[in-house]
Amino acid sequence: MSRPTLWLRCEKKEFERRAALTPTTARRLIDAGFDIYVERDDQRIFDDAEYEAVGCKLVENNSWPSAPREIPIIGLKELPLSDEPLPHTHIQFAHCYKNQAGWSSVLARFFRGGGTLYDLEFLTDESGRRVAAFGYHAGFAGAAAGALALAAKKRGEKLGQLEPYANEDAMVHSVKQALGGTGKGVKALVIGALGRCGRGAVDLFKKIGLEEADILKWDMAETAKGGPFQEILDVDIFVNCIYLSSPIPHFVTHEQIRAAGKGRGLSVIVDVSCDTTNPHNPIPVYNINTTFSEPTVPVEVGPENPPLSVISIDHLPTLLPREASEQFSLDLLPSLLQLPNRQAARVWTEAEKLFKEKLALAVKAEGL
Ligand SMILES: NC(=O)c1ccc[n+]([C@@H]2O[C@H](COP(=O)([O-])OP(=O)(O)OC[C@H]3O[C@@H](n4cnc5c(N)ncnc54)[C@H](O)[C@@H]3O)[C@@H](O)[C@H]2O)c1
Repeated sequence: MSRPTLWLRCEKKEFERRAALTPTTARRLIDAGFDIYVERDDQRIFDDAEYEAVGCKLVENNSWPSAPREIPIIGLKELPLSDEPLPHTHIQFAHCYKNQAGWSSVLARFFRGGGTLYDLEFLTDESGRRVAAFGYHAGFAGAAAGALALAAKKRGEKLGQLEPYANEDAMVHSVKQALGGTGKGVKALVIGALGRCGRGAVDLFKKIGLEEADILKWDMAETAKGGPFQEILDVDIFVNCIYLSSPIPHFVTHEQIRAAGKGRGLSVIVDVSCDTTNPHNPIPVYNINTTFSEPTVPVEVGPENPPLSVISIDHLPTLLPREASEQFSLDLLPSLLQLPNRQAARVWTEAEKLFKEKLALAVKAEGL
């Protein structure tokens, strides 16, 4: 029987430095009997040599289209737009199952090529929970960006461009420095604190030196009373990390912010959840996603009231490409180890079933 094989392709999305497979997980797969091909990629946070050192076979950048058809191709983000048929099995985030712009033409490529898509967003365990997600580092990086914005505000400045950090320690160090050596004395409220993003936000605040009592950790129980919440206006940084699944009362409103006048403590809102255009966004005080180059947007607070800004970046884990990749890839590993048995392993059969359902819809939509 031939050895199980995976092909890590390069990423073509601008600024994407993360990888679905890291040298650590590649080694674990090799130890389990896999052959791993890795495309050379300068953009990736991990050096080609790190993969070579653990026994991966390096191949040319973007050479996957000529890979043997039976080898599954693993990547992270969308492929560049094209009409080329896709004959391989692809494991990646394809962003085409929720009627996103161009969804049916992406799936049409699989139909024409006879390939299969296993979308990373829809690999789930028995309880329906995703096997791998980037939440923790989104919360961690979001809280760091919030603390940097607070530090900038204290200097009378606006937060400038954010750049990816080499690792968590570098991020923590830089945030502490910006705050004058420690975050002690800063107060923060994290809503959704029991989830992936929320846990990351809480950990960042601890690591930069906030006192335990100054990190309010709210989840379902604390918001059950219904917003808006005065507690949000009393902290320096509010980080929203909830998974919004149904309409809920607003957490904070313009009226409440204006009414608080000059006595408001709140300086920065970090909306990690980023339900920016959702009609049920519980933070209806801003309406754009911010970016690494323009991380904050001001909130209308009423004349002479202290400024308030929102950070609503929807790809925060990119600020920590190394650790975010390591955690995601490790969480994905048990499923990857089951790949040789994908005709029977639940995580893969369910993902394939969903792919076939979406493919049928795309075939209809495209009139194929
Ligand atoms: N901005 C980014 O870069 C980025 C990256 C990853 C995830 N996200 C988003 O962050 C959100 C959270 O993701 P996650 O993986 O942490 O989800 P999760 O399911 O792990 O955690 C969500 C938490 O929110 C809590 N929650 C839900 N509704 C609540 C409410 N009304 N009041 C209080 N708590 C509530 C849940 O109990 C849970 O603990 C999602 O919307 C996700 O799409 C954003």
